[in-house]
Amino acid sequence: MSDALFDSIVRMQGDRPWGAVLDAGTGDHSLSWVMGLPTRRWTAITGDPARERALRSRHAAAMRPEDRVVTGNWTDPQLLAGERYDVVLADYLLGAVEGFAPYFQDRLFARLRPLVGGDLYVVGLAPYPERAETPGGDAILEIARLRDACILLAGHRCYREYPLDWVIRSLESSGYRVEDALSIPIVYRERFIVGQLDVCRRKLPLLADRALADRLAAHIDALQARCLALDETRRGIRFGEDYVLRATPS
Ligand SMILES: C[S@@+](CC[C@H](N)C(=O)[O-])C[C@H]1O[C@@H](n2cnc3c(N)ncnc32)[C@H](O)[C@@H]1O
Repeated sequence: MSDALFDSIVRMQGDRPWGAVLDAGTGDHSLSWVMGLPTRRWTAITGDPARERALRSRHAAAMRPEDRVVTGNWTDPQLLAGERYDVVLADYLLGAVEGFAPYFQDRLFARLRPLVGGDLYVVGLAPYPERAETPGGDAILEIARLRDACILLAGHRCYREYPLDWVIRSLESSGYRVEDALSIPIVYRERFIVGQLDVCRRKLPLLADRALADRLAAHIDALQARCLALDETRRGIRFGEDYVLRATPS
């Protein structure tokens, strides 16, 4: 899904060298992409030590001595203090901040600002509309609501997505000029449906009410079967959009 977004970033970057790259909200997808670029060095930040361990063990062989995976929190003023990067990537970072530093979203881009020597790329998911216009869109909304309900019942925090115009306002008031922005429609496939419902399944052992957990398990299986049986799923469900922006320090 992100590949079209990363292709857009490559186009926006043009001939400018990648140099030192910061993946400010890392994961396997963004880090694998960064590792394929002609960088001088890269640093990847996560708020989750388990993710750091997984990324290190998966990518250790291809890491150069100057490449780093670091666990930290952008609320910590010491994190990467005094460092500077040619390119900073915030790939689905903003939406995830709710899970690691709730209420910090309006400070995020100002916090990253001293690290941005050249370009900041922000990738995000536009919040879903309240209603869909096709059975496939309804299915995506139903999955998202069930996923968030299971996360909350497990006592965890859900991600919170922000619209493109919020991000533009926040960048402009945080010392950036927005140079480029585009939205890309999302096409959901079976992998997304099963992946999101697996998130639900992983939360169920954490529910205190075991009868509720059993009912939810049956509901998750039924929803998965219903979604996979849709014709739209075979073609790919077009619903919602991602966005990518390029901003530079103003
Ligand atoms: C949804 S994931 C990003 C997806 C990732 N780019 C990929 O390709 O899979 C969000 C990442 O941002 C990190 N993150 C969220 N809030 C953070 C914070 N306040 N400080 C540091 N890292 C944070 C999470 O730990 C995670 O590594």
